[in-house]
Amino acid sequence: MTAVPTGRIAVTGATGTLGTALVRELAGRGHRPLALVRPGRGGAVAGPADPVEADLGDGGPEAVRRLAGALTGTRALFLLTPFHPRQDLLQRTVIEAAAAAGVAHVVKLSALGADPDSPVLVHRQHGLAERALADRCPGHTVLRPNAFTQNAAQWLGTIASRGAVLLPVGRARVSMVDVRDIASAAAALLTGPPGRGEVYELTGPRALGYAEAAEELTAASGREIRYLDVSEDEAREAMLGAGVPAWAVAARLQLYATYAAGEAETVTGALRELTGRPPRPFGDFARSLAERIRALPAPGAAEAAR
Ligand SMILES: NC(=O)c1ccc[n+]([C@@H]2O[C@H](COP(=O)([O-])OP(=O)(O)OC[C@H]3O[C@@H](n4cnc5c(N)ncnc54)[C@H](OP(=O)(O)O)[C@@H]3O)[C@@H](O)[C@H]2O)c1
Repeated sequence: MTAVPTGRIAVTGATGTLGTALVRELAGRGHRPLALVRPGRGGAVAGPADPVEADLGDGGPEAVRRLAGALTGTRALFLLTPFHPRQDLLQRTVIEAAAAAGVAHVVKLSALGADPDSPVLVHRQHGLAERALADRCPGHTVLRPNAFTQNAAQWLGTIASRGAVLLPVGRARVSMVDVRDIASAAAALLTGPPGRGEVYELTGPRALGYAEAAEELTAASGREIRYLDVSEDEAREAMLGAGVPAWAVAARLQLYATYAAGEAETVTGALRELTGRPPRPFGDFARSLAERIRALPAPGAAEAAR
C-alpha cells in the first residue's frame, strides 16, 4: 500500500462554492489546509484554514515562482479555478507551480466531457489542463463532475420575476451533483496516498429533467415554480441583460446544448466508490434553498408596487 507523504494540504478556490464545502470537509477530518486566495480575500474563507495570498495571475513565470514559493512543504493540492475565458492558463500556472514545489498529489477539479479537442470552451479548457497535469505532475487524480446541483441557486432571479426556471434545454435530463459530495470525494483523495492519473466521473444519483427540478423546488418551498423551455435567443438576451459577459453567455449556451443533446445524463457509481455513501438527491439541496425561495417577492410584486 502506498504511504501518505508528509506535509500540508493546500486548496485553491477556497472562497468559492466547492472550495468552501471542501474546507469544511477537511476540518471534519482534522485538517487545517493552506487556502490560496486572491489578495485581500483571506477573510472570505469560511472555515479553519491558513490563508496565503496568491493571485493565479497571467500564467507568467513570476506568477508561477510566487505560487511555487507558497506551495513549499505542501504534499497534496486541490486545483480549482473559476469559470474564466482563459481557465486553461490559470490551471497551467498552478500545475507548473505544483511541479516546481514538488507537490506529491494534485487533485484536479475538471468537468464531465473534458476533452482537449472539444468545441465546447469549458470542456476544451479542462481537457487541455488535464493533459498539462499528466505531463507535469505524475501524482494526480482528476474529478470530472457533472453540472453542480448548487447552480439551482442561480434560478432565484427568474423564480422571483416569473415564478419559473428558464433554460434553453428542452427535455434534457442531467445527473446534477451536489458540491458537498464532490468535496467529500476530494477530501478522501487529498488525505490519502497520491493518485496515479485516475479519472472519476462524478454524478448525482439519477438524471433529472428541469420540470422535475422545478417540481422539487415547489414541493420544498410550497411556492409554485414552473420550468420554461426558452429559445437560445431568449436565454442569450436574458443573460446579456443581466450583465453576464458575452464570452460567458456563449460558453454557457454551449454547455446547455450538450445537456439538450443528452450528454449530461450519465449516472456513475464513482461518488459512492470514493466516499462510501450514495450521492445526495436534488431534493436535499432544494430543501436547503426553500427558505430563500419563500423570502423572494411574489412574481409581479415589483411592478404592482410601482
Ligand atoms: N458549476 C458547474 O455546474 C460546474 C460543473 C462542472 C465543473 N465546474 C468547474 O468548477 C469550477 C468552478 O468551481 P466553483 O463553482 O466552486 O467556483 P466559484 O464558486 O466561482 O469560485 C471560484 C474560486 O476561484 C477564486 N478565484 C477567482 N479568480 C482567481 C484568481 N485570479 N486567482 C486566484 N483565485 C481566483 C475565487 O476567489 P474569489 O472569492 O476571490 O473570487 C473563488 O475562490 C470551474 O473549473 C468549472 O469549470 C463547474
